[in-house]
Amino acid sequence: MRRHGIEEGRGGFVEGAWYIIADAARVGKRPVTVERFGTRIVLFRDERGALVAARARCPHRGADLGLGRVVDGAIECPYHGFRFASDGRCVAIPCEGRGASGRGVAEALALTRYEVREHRGFVWLFWGERPDELPPVPWFEGLPADERHAHTASTEWDVPFARAMEGMLDFHHAPFAHRPWMPGVGALLDPYDVRVEGDVIHAMGVLRHDDGAPWDGRRGWKLEMEVRFPGALRLSFGKLVVGVVGCAPIDAGRTAIVGRYYMPVPAIGRLLARLGLLMEFWLIQPEDERMLASSEPRDADLEACRFVCADAGILAWHKMRRARLKAQREGAPQAEPRRLPVEAG
Ligand code: FES
Ligand SMILES: [Fe+2]
Repeated sequence: MRRHGIEEGRGGFVEGAWYIIADAARVGKRPVTVERFGTRIVLFRDERGALVAARARCPHRGADLGLGRVVDGAIECPYHGFRFASDGRCVAIPCEGRGASGRGVAEALALTRYEVREHRGFVWLFWGERPDELPPVPWFEGLPADERHAHTASTEWDVPFARAMEGMLDFHHAPFAHRPWMPGVGALLDPYDVRVEGDVIHAMGVLRHDDGAPWDGRRGWKLEMEVRFPGALRLSFGKLVVGVVGCAPIDAGRTAIVGRYYMPVPAIGRLLARLGLLMEFWLIQPEDERMLASSEPRDADLEACRFVCADAGILAWHKMRRARLKAQREGAPQAEPRRLPVEAG
């Protein structure tokens, strides 16, 4: 797969925020390496089953820890068997014998860890320097209380994160970009309302036929979206489909997408959610990806576009992003901003 360079400095990624980076069901007994924010991150579970996220590059000589195994809650590198506890300490260096990890090398060999939480079946990673008090992991109102009637799946787009978010926030492309699957959906977006509260964007719109009459409150296809900046969103299409989507940058040019549909229908809800999400991922999203990947310039550029009223949600998101990146640029430069302290063991 094509690789993309990362901008100088901190990669242009919005920091200080929780991102959905994976489906938590993907992390079982074996460690898993994912690439996010231009960094390979290994996910594993400690002896209590709690998620741990750390840089996947072994501090010894760089092997991918995701190829290793978990022993007594510590991750063991596949190359020379060094082990790292869930707090990042190096607790075994087999070639040096017992007690080697106490000879002062453990500190130098400590893993770089990241704040991670498992919440509602998603892996949430806090990207950016850890503040004294971490913000709560976001979630959405109006969703079923559990995941009994839900299905979750993941994909990747060969599209930069900001472009992917533009695609998510775009309502009025549906009758064109998804024409085969949306027969009868009108092209007029009216009414359309975007509201911003802190770092949350609420958008509501109705796609209907332009019959010259004001909306009667019934006709058309109603879409609602709540975006927890930067990349977590709840969406509902019509009455039946409610979903959650988490987007996170893989690197400067690609985006990881974790999607979930809820279908609160007794007995067959999970099956319907699965079918709906399969259709979304196999038929619909590739069309979005094709549109976005074909757009010029490749990355989002406000100056290069001529926005219309129906793009208001996209503009609200870009306004937040601009403000956050500006604050980051003006903040103290951090070469390695995400390191957590190694607790004295
Ligand atoms: S590279 Fe990991 S133990 Fe050597
Ligand atoms: Fe779409």
